[in-house]
Amino acid sequence: MSLPELIVAGNWKMNGVRADLAEIEAVRAGIPASCKAGVWIFPPATIIGAAAALNGGMHVLTGAQDCHAKDSGAFTGDLSAPILKDAGAAAIIVGHSERRSGHGETSREVKAKASAVLKAGLPVIVCLGETRGERESGLAASVCTRQLADSLPAESTPENTVIAYEPVWAIGTGLQATTEDITAIHAVLRAELAKREGTGGQRWRILYGGSVSPANAAGIFESGEVDGALVGGASLKAASFLAIIAAGAQALERRKS
Ligand code: 13P
Repeated sequence: MSLPELIVAGNWKMNGVRADLAEIEAVRAGIPASCKAGVWIFPPATIIGAAAALNGGMHVLTGAQDCHAKDSGAFTGDLSAPILKDAGAAAIIVGHSERRSGHGETSREVKAKASAVLKAGLPVIVCLGETRGERESGLAASVCTRQLADSLPAESTPENTVIAYEPVWAIGTGLQATTEDITAIHAVLRAELAKREGTGGQRWRILYGGSVSPANAAGIFESGEVDGALVGGASLKAASFLAIIAAGAQALERRKS
């Protein structure tokens, strides 16, 4: 597995039916051939297969938004990493704050799910981030550090695992963390990741998520600590997602030159 240097990922959450595959087709058609950023889209599980089967334009990786920690069994309504892989998922998100808060998922469960994704041979995006109260109490860095330590399985490496820092208060609110705030937390996470055996901090991909939009993406990508974005609302429409992809591709070009 080798991960792109900069990833622009769209998390569609509980949005998207077959008619919306046209948005993914438009994204594929709209990515310039020169784009070196990885573009990943995580639609609802029901259309992963159809999304993964699309062709034309540039490649867009299709992934799943969550999975069960077990491979199979009596878990009505759940989907495992091998099942999602079979359906066409090429990456899986775990630990999104909407799963942590809405479904009571603990970091321990997130770690088990991340292990399941890696066992299935897919890259995993592990999400973490502080609440507004935690930030206001000055606990953002310590909360994120703890979530990282508790959510990342031992087998995670920079080649198979992506971290997504998503401050809960910035998700879907239009409130955006400043580039300085993002840079500070990413640097703390990277320093922690650098302590893991055999991995230099720079090799890890750390994405930012939380009200990323065409208006603020370029500023966020200016930070050398930011290796991409996990985009919610603005990923649902091709036009806004393409604008964010363009900002990512430009930032990557500047870094390489
Ligand atoms: P928004 O971009 O809608 O704030 O969502 C961010 C997010 O939760 C992505 O996983």
